[in-house]
Amino acid sequence: MMARLAKEIKFQELGDERGHLVVMEGKVSIPFEIKRIYYIYGTQPEVSRGFHAHRNLKQVLVAIKGSCKMHLENGKEKEVIELTDPSKAILIDTLTWREMHDFSEDCVLLCLASEHYDESDYIRSYEEFSKLASL
Ligand code: TYD
Repeated sequence: MMARLAKEIKFQELGDERGHLVVMEGKVSIPFEIKRIYYIYGTQPEVSRGFHAHRNLKQVLVAIKGSCKMHLENGKEKEVIELTDPSKAILIDTLTWREMHDFSEDCVLLCLASEHYDESDYIRSYEEFSKLASL
């Protein structure tokens, strides 16, 4: 994974002979106070999600099981990042268009959010995103 439009976060794997353990801690390995956690699972392989950007929200995403592809855009560049490793996350900054594709059937995508849910923070129009991102 070599992300340009997102920051990669590699978590320490505290595994031993019993198995693996990964810790995500706000303001420690996650660069913000975690206000909200949600996860996406049971996504059919032909289903795509996302198709929005955020004005103020930052998010850390990690496929804690299975895999999916994150399509990112910042108004100038596009990038596809495959999430496959439960010890590696990406930090998506504000004003980044994201689409999620090609979920494996077993994919569990964990999302850590810097803000509470706020529909007015969403930019769901690609046209509006393109205008804001090129300012
Ligand atoms: P949506 O943003 O469409 O998901 P995605 O961008 O991953 O495709 O969210 C699906 C529904 O869940 C939508 O009705 C909004 C709601 N929702 C909440 O109520 N709280 C939340 O924290 C999130 C992320 C979504």
